[in-house]
Amino acid sequence: MTPIRTLALGAILAALSACQAPAPPKSPAELAAQAAAMTPADPRLADLYAHACKACHAVAASGAPLAGDRAAWAPRAQKGMAALMGSVVSGYKGMPAGGQCFSCTGQDYQALIRFMADQPVN
Ligand code: HEC
Repeated sequence: MTPIRTLALGAILAALSACQAPAPPKSPAELAAQAAAMTPADPRLADLYAHACKACHAVAASGAPLAGDRAAWAPRAQKGMAALMGSVVSGYKGMPAGGQCFSCTGQDYQALIRFMADQPVN
């Protein structure tokens, strides 16, 4: 086989396998842009989010798992809602107690966590 043919075959195989492969993981820039654009649909939650969680959870440099970054949230979601609520209420590593939300109810925290994790959290 000539090198050209080999190249062409390689390109076809690569294209075929790309069709079957799952969507490639998003780049850090894509994840940051996605987090920056996300806001809860509920107006009250959107307000709470904009004035608290978003300051860190839409800023990669904060070290917080970004809103909508499902891969970053997956191991946290596995801890379960009770554990995550405990982290927010008491503070956790770089996150201050209450997540800087002074008017969030327990229900608000749960809704905000589900919104950011973008996956079921039980
Ligand atoms: C001042 C920055 C900051 C704010 C504001 C903030 N967080 Fe965080 N949050 C963090 C950081 C940093 C982490 C990751 C800590 C780590 O794992 O090192 C985190 C982690 C979390 C976790 C995962 C905890 C765990 O046990 O894995 C949850 C849940 C969470 N934040 C919810 C919230 C919610 C809800 C709000 C808004 C009410 C909020 N955060 C506001 C910085 C913040």
